[in-house]
Amino acid sequence: MARSKPLDPEYSSRWVPSDFFRTFCWKEVFPTPQPVELELGAGDGSFLVQYASAHPQVNFFAVERLLGRVRKMDRKSHKAGCCNIRLLRVEASYLLNHLIPEASLQAIHLYFPDPWPKKKHHKNRLVNDHFANACHRLLATAGCVYLRTDHGDYFEQMEEVFAHKKGFEQTPTPAKLLAFKTDFEAHFNQRGIETQHACYLKKASSNMP
Ligand SMILES: C[S@@+](CC[C@H](N)C(=O)[O-])C[C@H]1O[C@@H](n2cnc3c(N)ncnc32)[C@H](O)[C@@H]1O
Repeated sequence: MARSKPLDPEYSSRWVPSDFFRTFCWKEVFPTPQPVELELGAGDGSFLVQYASAHPQVNFFAVERLLGRVRKMDRKSHKAGCCNIRLLRVEASYLLNHLIPEASLQAIHLYFPDPWPKKKHHKNRLVNDHFANACHRLLATAGCVYLRTDHGDYFEQMEEVFAHKKGFEQTPTPAKLLAFKTDFEAHFNQRGIETQHACYLKKASSNMP
């Protein structure tokens, strides 16, 4: 892991918008203008901090709805000396629908989202038609949505949703990216549980998803 210089003890990666009712611009969020990648439901930040440390030329914005996990990610990020991470406690769908500027993301990472296994709860799954449309609106051309899950039925739903979107094409997930594991993934791997992954690239001149 590439390590930066130690950060000021008061430094925090946590960031809160001045106005929750308008789209923010990345200049307000990161002091260094560089490409932005987003992680949704980042958990304890295992993936985020390793990946952001290894890619100082990219800015990483991560959201998580549990406060304890946001705090843990902040501590990890500080320990790793990462200046290119910003963390926000917010519902992923609110962020996608209201806060992120259009065509401004290089990548969206969604790893091991809650599978909501009971049929009556499938409506709570984050990956659906609306999610794919939001990703299409927020990604820059050639930006990618990266998905991972251990849940076969949810993976099928992910594949089906994106298969119907003309604005995306499926492409192999880079091996270099797969080398960065999330916390849940590490647990699944240790227990021999199979996990699956997919990558969808936003095509050039594709106005409609
Ligand atoms: C199963 S965990 C996976 C965590 C991490 N991505 C990993 O792979 O280790 C799902 C995470 O997403 C968060 N989460 C679930 N729904 C969310 C939502 N709508 N908005 C933000 N975070 C959410 C949960 O709090 C939890 O930390």
